Amino acid sequence: MLNLTLFGPPGSGKGTQAAFLTGHFGIPQVSTGDLFRSEIKGGTPLGGRVKEYLDRGDLVPDDVTLEVVRRRLEAPDTDRGVLFDGFPRTVAQAEALDSMLASMDRRMNHVIFVQVPTEMLVNRMAGRLTCPRCGRTYHPKLAPPEHDGLCDVDGTALVMRQDDRPETARRRIGVYLEQTLPVLAHYRQQSVVRDVDGTGGIDEVRARILRAIKGRRGEAHDQPQD
Ligand code: AP5
Ligand code: MG
Repeated sequence: MLNLTLFGPPGSGKGTQAAFLTGHFGIPQVSTGDLFRSEIKGGTPLGGRVKEYLDRGDLVPDDVTLEVVRRRLEAPDTDRGVLFDGFPRTVAQAEALDSMLASMDRRMNHVIFVQVPTEMLVNRMAGRLTCPRCGRTYHPKLAPPEHDGLCDVDGTALVMRQDDRPETARRRIGVYLEQTLPVLAHYRQQSVVRDVDGTGGIDEVRARILRAIKGRRGEAHDQPQD
């Protein structure tokens, strides 16, 4: 059982690294951002409720976000654990997640804090291309797909995210600093945070994340549920 969170500012590479880690550990990715975008794309009532928040770069209210996660955790594919990406994003969400996991006899095992300087974040987001079907992300210079404009996984035409315009991207970074960064202190109290340098190539960051997770999994006091 492995419950792990990729924590970091917008554009730090959470989605990019999640694509590899889910396969490596055999656990599903739960990205609240991806879940919201798929509701919006599907034209569902929930999608209608959350769209304005995503377009502005603001956080979706906690009650809505928590309901979406609660429902997702009921699916049987989460039995072996979950890789959270972009959740929790407020201290209230982190506290609610602690209770949800405890009620399932689980706990958060690792919070991987992917650190990237702000200017680099804006550059990464400005060029990002996303697969609207599977959520995988690319960048024409930094992480190009094999075939121009098409997803490597399913061949779908890649799109730019609405909220990646520089002004919205900057707003998201501001929201992160104000509302999301305090979540780290919550998890530091639980001694589950591992700080990882998120600069450098994708493979390099991936290797650091694996080392951070495996290092922790090797620590005797941190093994009860692994
Ligand atoms: P969400 O979808 O979670 O976006 P985010 O946190 O802003 O993060 P991003 O997806 O932008 O970045 P990422 O870290 O995944 O980076 P990526 O791998 O793509 O949230 C969107 C919105 O949904 C929020 O604004 C909010 O409205 C709402 N929301 C979501 N969760 C919520 C919650 N819990 N509560 C309330 N509201 C919520 O990489 C970025 C780019 O860099 C890519 O182009 C990639 O190819 C490139 N790249 C990645 N790694 C590297 C590398 N090492 N070197 C060079 N390039 C790289
Ligand atoms: Mg993402």
